[in-house]
Amino acid sequence: MGATKLRSTASALVAPGKGILAADESTPTLMKRLESLGISSTDESRRFYRSMLTTTPGASEQISGVILYDETIRQSTIEGTPFPEQLQRDGIICGIKVDTGAKELAASPGEKVTEGLDGLRDRLSEYRELGARFAKWRAVIAIGDGLPSSYCIGVNAHALARYAILCQEAGIVPVVEPEVLMDGDHTIERCYEVTAKTLHALFDELFEQQAMLDGMLLKANMVLPGKDCPQQISVEEVAEQTVRCLRDVVPAAVPGIVFLSGGQSSKHATAHLNAMNNMGPHPWELSFSFARALQQPALDAWKGEESNFGAGQEAFHHRVKLTSLARAGKYTADMERS
Ligand code: 13P
Repeated sequence: MGATKLRSTASALVAPGKGILAADESTPTLMKRLESLGISSTDESRRFYRSMLTTTPGASEQISGVILYDETIRQSTIEGTPFPEQLQRDGIICGIKVDTGAKELAASPGEKVTEGLDGLRDRLSEYRELGARFAKWRAVIAIGDGLPSSYCIGVNAHALARYAILCQEAGIVPVVEPEVLMDGDHTIERCYEVTAKTLHALFDELFEQQAMLDGMLLKANMVLPGKDCPQQISVEEVAEQTVRCLRDVVPAAVPGIVFLSGGQSSKHATAHLNAMNNMGPHPWELSFSFARALQQPALDAWKGEESNFGAGQEAFHHRVKLTSLARAGKYTADMERS
């Protein structure tokens, strides 16, 4: 697949009104989420849950792509259709998480580096055979006392760019995700500073390694105070700081920025995305690639009960529609259910 196809896939993922569902939690992460609601995590329950989300009738009007985990891309939905085939039938682009997780960074306590480059070329070619047309790699940058180090930002940026160029070689659109975490009591100003520095390092590496900027997407965190910071920040302030930071650093050639929700509530993540889109036009599409902010209402309605399949889909679709409205600045808080 050539450059033209990469560009068209990247643009289709951020088509107006549309965004990405991240359903690529690793098995231990999904286990934690399910078990916190008293749902046991088995191959079957994970397959059931992901079938429920990805086969929601009508959701393809708002969902352009779904990021799967290795387990799911090899499974079939409860109707018996392989997940990639089902997505393709519904007009949804199949994505795959290809990193193998964030591991302790040697010589830098408290920091992590994302692994998964070994054998990546072969894995990408297999995933493409299985139907994947885009991929995700997540690096995590923690803010703390003296953190992050330039070393941590540097090694993660280097790995992200190595991943991106290998994806493009394989005809797969890389979604490049350097997530600055919300954990801690840092201020919004500190988050701005770290996000800008991280993105600078990333785009330097992408340039060095000759990535095609118009054949990729950036998955970014919003600029927010840490979870434990007492600072009160309005929705408009978050939107302004985030857009200003991105405008400073992200080249206009990148077709879209898709946000992660990062532990914000569904309502906050949606309100912030809405406010940012209201401040447009922007050089890039501003869209979503949420996991928790799209899935939480569905999980709460489903509760692990087969009989709640329809209720889970209904809750998921409602959330998806509100998030899609935020793509056009048309979401209002009174659309939320009490
Ligand atoms: P959250 O939206 O839950 O932060 O997850 C997005 C994601 O895919 C993180 O890699």
